[in-house]
Amino acid sequence: MTMRIDVISAVPDSLTSPLNTSILKRAQDRKKVEIYVHNLRDYAYDKHKQIDDKPFGGGPGMLLKPEPFFECIEKLLDQRKYDHIIFPTPGGRFYDQKLANKFSLANNIMIIAGHYKGIDDRVRQKFATDEISIGNYVLTGGEIAALVIIDSVVRLIPGVLNDSESALNDSLMDGDIIEAPYYTRPAVYRGMEVPEVLRSGNEKKLRRGKKSSRKF
Ligand code: ADE
Repeated sequence: MTMRIDVISAVPDSLTSPLNTSILKRAQDRKKVEIYVHNLRDYAYDKHKQIDDKPFGGGPGMLLKPEPFFECIEKLLDQRKYDHIIFPTPGGRFYDQKLANKFSLANNIMIIAGHYKGIDDRVRQKFATDEISIGNYVLTGGEIAALVIIDSVVRLIPGVLNDSESALNDSLMDGDIIEAPYYTRPAVYRGMEVPEVLRSGNEKKLRRGKKSSRKF
C-alpha cells in the first residue's frame, strides 16, 4: 500500500525542493508515498485567474477566495476517501510525535495550506478534519507546517528509513526521553573529547549512557 498525500497551495513552488530532496525523495522513489501538490490558481475560474479578494468588514490584506479551494478539494474527494484533511493553523491542536504516529497509519491525507487570516473560513469549516498548529508562533502560510507534518509522517512509513536510521529507537518515541548526543571521529577535536563511555566500545555501558532527558 502506497500512502498518498495531496497538498493544496497558492505557492506550490515553495514545496517543490523540500519534497524532492533526501529522504522524502527516496520515499517517493521507493513508492512508499505519492505526494501531489495542487496549485490553487489552476482552480480559479475567472479569466484573471484571481484567487484572492478583499475581506468583508475591511482590514488589511487580501483573503484567499473559497471557490478555488472548494473546486480542488471536491475534485479530490470525488476520487478517493481521505483519512485526514489537515488544516495547519496556529489555532489548532499542537502537533507532536503521537499525532505523527497516528497520521502515518493513514492511506490518504490531504493538507490545505492556506494563509493564516488569509483564507476564507468556510474552507476550514467545510472540509478540515484536523486543525494542527506546529507551534506557538505565526508563519506566513501553511506550507512550512505542511512540510513539517509530511516529513515527520513519511519517515515513519515502513521501508522509508534504512535499519541504521530506524525510527523505532527515536527520541520522543516513548515519552519525553531524548537521545544522548552522538559523536564520530576524531576522538579529540580542538581539545573537545568524545565521552570515554562511547570510546570504550562497551555495549552494555554504552546503552546505559544513551538515555538523557531534556534540558528545558
Ligand atoms: N500557519 C501559520 N502559523 C502556523 C503555525 N504555527 N502552525 C500551523 N500552521 C500555521
